[in-house]
Amino acid sequence: MSDQQRLLELLHAIAGSASAAEIGGLPLPETYRAAVTRRSDVERTLRISEVNRDPVSTLRIERVATPSVAPDEVLVAVMASSINFNTVWSSIFAPIPTFVFLDKLAKEGGWSARHGGDRHVLGSDASGVVVAAGSVVRRWSPGDHVVVHGNWVSGEDPGTYQDAMRAKSQRAWGFETNFGGLADLAVVKASQLMRKPLHLSWAESASSTLCNATAYRMLISPNGAGLRLGDSVLIWGATGGVGSFAVQLALAAGADPICVVSRPDRVALLRRLGVRHVIDRVAEGYQFLSADGTTVNTSEVARFGDRVREFTSDGVDVVLEHPGRETMQASIASCRPGGKVVTCAATTGALIQFDASLASRRSIQIVGSHFANYWENDRANLLLEQGIVQPTLTATYPLEEVPLATRLVSSGGHHGKIGINCLAEAGSGVSDPIARAAMGERVITRFARASLSGSKDFGGGQVDEVIS
Ligand SMILES: NC(=O)c1ccc[n+]([C@@H]2O[C@H](COP(=O)([O-])OP(=O)(O)OC[C@H]3O[C@@H](n4cnc5c(N)ncnc54)[C@H](OP(=O)(O)O)[C@@H]3O)[C@@H](O)[C@H]2O)c1
Repeated sequence: MSDQQRLLELLHAIAGSASAAEIGGLPLPETYRAAVTRRSDVERTLRISEVNRDPVSTLRIERVATPSVAPDEVLVAVMASSINFNTVWSSIFAPIPTFVFLDKLAKEGGWSARHGGDRHVLGSDASGVVVAAGSVVRRWSPGDHVVVHGNWVSGEDPGTYQDAMRAKSQRAWGFETNFGGLADLAVVKASQLMRKPLHLSWAESASSTLCNATAYRMLISPNGAGLRLGDSVLIWGATGGVGSFAVQLALAAGADPICVVSRPDRVALLRRLGVRHVIDRVAEGYQFLSADGTTVNTSEVARFGDRVREFTSDGVDVVLEHPGRETMQASIASCRPGGKVVTCAATTGALIQFDASLASRRSIQIVGSHFANYWENDRANLLLEQGIVQPTLTATYPLEEVPLATRLVSSGGHHGKIGINCLAEAGSGVSDPIARAAMGERVITRFARASLSGSKDFGGGQVDEVIS
């Protein structure tokens, strides 16, 4: 039987009423389709300057061998996944080639040795169906519909039980490990699984997991800002992956978001979603760094801080920071005394110049935040199930088009999240249509519809388009 026939048999069993034992007993394909980078492309790519590297020249859709499943792992038939910014980093081998992470993990030996090799299967989001479960997995069985979060930790690491994000073994699945979600099959630890929200499609649920949970930890969790009613929050990139969930979480928490974007259509999108305070950083012409990028332009930083204080006179309580080098000083200058800058990334550069005396005089805290532990992922997923947070999926592509979709995200041309249908048909996966109808199709898809610039439907910003 060919691999394709084996996959079709699996899909048939999943779609029908096959039992866990029947699905678990089916033969697995020996190879599967996956979006990969190749070790052999690293050297030539590193010779190109980082800004000129193109995901399309390094990402390939290839067949890879199906790995065996460790006792604490499951094999998931991936229905959908999404492009995250870490897909961009992986594809351009920046800041370092991800093969460095894989080699380090493989050196641990035992089951970890599987992660080495010449191909890296990428992807840190997935929704799908469990098709095989390792011998010590108790909570999940073949046939279960799941979403996968990307926090990969060892259950034998004591640090996991304080806060898994601080555990020594912590890795980002599909970025620092192999066998990620941009594929027909994925190998994940059982502790990465959560119940798929039944009213969402495969792509809606897959594309919400990583960015929603990242924003949840940054803004809601006590490990981040722990937002309180009435807090003001500055959100950079408010229509991007993390930002589009941060805005919803801030509004749901009773906070007042001040959103920064770079284009008029993004200002309009946020207005349609009911956001009151929006800054178009390009239209207002902020230049936080000198032309050669070496020095902070303090008068521009002060101008931005004054602009933020037009909305909240003392400055903001919290900043959701991720651009890094270009914006950190403006983030600090926007805070009220005692405010917090919570940062999860440094997209424009990690070596940052900032005024330490300003930060100390105003008792400003800079809080590092990275993805989310299992508990935070589960809470963020619950908010999706409850409809308090909605997906921000604006486009989906088939697995074959991962290279083009990654190029789109790398160029910043997208809004919200870009989904990838792996085994799923476009739009499929809603298993509770009654719950979906009760929540309302227009409510669930409002970010996507509001992002259609110029649509007559949303021009008036009707009440039912407002998130809060
Ligand atoms: N640590 C973690 O666990 C974690 C998790 C998720 C993401 N991240 C990181 O967070 C960053 C953002 O991820 P994402 O998924 O939100 O990406 P995204 O969808 O590309 O959105 C990023 C947004 O940032 C804004 N931006 C870009 N350059 C900027 C600049 N120079 N100044 C101000 N704003 C700028 C853009 O909005 P405008 O142009 O409209 O302003 C863009 O929409 C990435 O570096 C990603 O790797 C980290």
